[in-house]
Amino acid sequence: MKDPVIISIGGGKGGIGKSTITANLGAALTLRGNRVGYIDADLGDANLHLCLGVKRPPAGLQDYISGRYKKLDDVAVTTSVPNSWLVSGASDFLELANPNFAQKQKIINNLKKMAADYIFVDLGAGSDYHVTDFYAAFPYGIVVADGLPTSIENAYGFLKNGTIRGLVRLFAGHPEIQARIKSFSDPETKREFSTVNNFLASMVKDHAKDVEIMKEWLHAKKNLLIINMVRNADDIKVGTRFAEMVKKYLSIDLHYIGYVVYAPEVRQSIREMKPIVLTQEATRIKDCFDAISQNLLALTKGPIR
Ligand SMILES: Nc1ncnc2c1ncn2[C@@H]1O[C@H](COP(=O)(O)OP(=O)(O)O)[C@@H](O)[C@H]1O
Ligand SMILES: [Mg+2]
Repeated sequence: MKDPVIISIGGGKGGIGKSTITANLGAALTLRGNRVGYIDADLGDANLHLCLGVKRPPAGLQDYISGRYKKLDDVAVTTSVPNSWLVSGASDFLELANPNFAQKQKIINNLKKMAADYIFVDLGAGSDYHVTDFYAAFPYGIVVADGLPTSIENAYGFLKNGTIRGLVRLFAGHPEIQARIKSFSDPETKREFSTVNNFLASMVKDHAKDVEIMKEWLHAKKNLLIINMVRNADDIKVGTRFAEMVKKYLSIDLHYIGYVVYAPEVRQSIREMKPIVLTQEATRIKDCFDAISQNLLALTKGPIR
């Protein structure tokens, strides 16, 4: 059995459609014959189960973190999307809203053992390390923005922090390197560098080997962009411009994999607790998810069926 392709979905801002996109993109991939897993990592504000037709999940991620259930598999439930499973984030245990490092690591390590072709990790709002650690941990990450300056700024901060956390993770046990990496985002200590490339150049003289390790991770990490709630042609272009800006100011590659139109029917589909791509009617928004799912399949070289 092949390892699943694990993709986290974030973007910094709440209410921009991360959970809607997670639910629908996963469903679009099941329609192409893939088995899909969903993880709701938005523990403070979990609602992915509702997008997937699960009213009250009997168990969830917190029950696994707390040790009440031994295997991640034990807390996975079936959803209204055929050929999928969900590990919900809904729980009455609020104290576990932010798992500690070891708890996060346990989830990250065990996710790869789950039976799926694709696993989507739906992240919460914000750009602090509780959220960006999950973004950094997996090979693929989708950043969602809605095209307005507010969400673009959040997405930029999210991507920057996610990258810093990814680099920091590489140097467990080397606090001096970690401190240098963290200072990248600190306006007080930021001196000669602002882009990732400038930073690596500033490190290369004394830490050539570490710079190689960082470059390898940066190269392997695939940052993908989706613009949601698109209403006109200008909104679509925001994605291209944002990816260029990220390249210029951060020297991070961000691949624009598509947009999703604003569709009033989304509200109805949430009320019906069923992803819109599974409804019968032909709609523009279904075409958007279909196009993005094809791009994802091509990018991940997953099983194209
Ligand atoms: N493409 C879209 N068209 C219309 N409404 C949308 C679209 N995407 C999301 N929404 C609406 O926006 C709200 C927030 O979406 P949600 O997926 O919960 O965001 P997030 O997970 O980022 O907080 C929901 O009410 C949803 O119905
Ligand atoms: Mg959400």
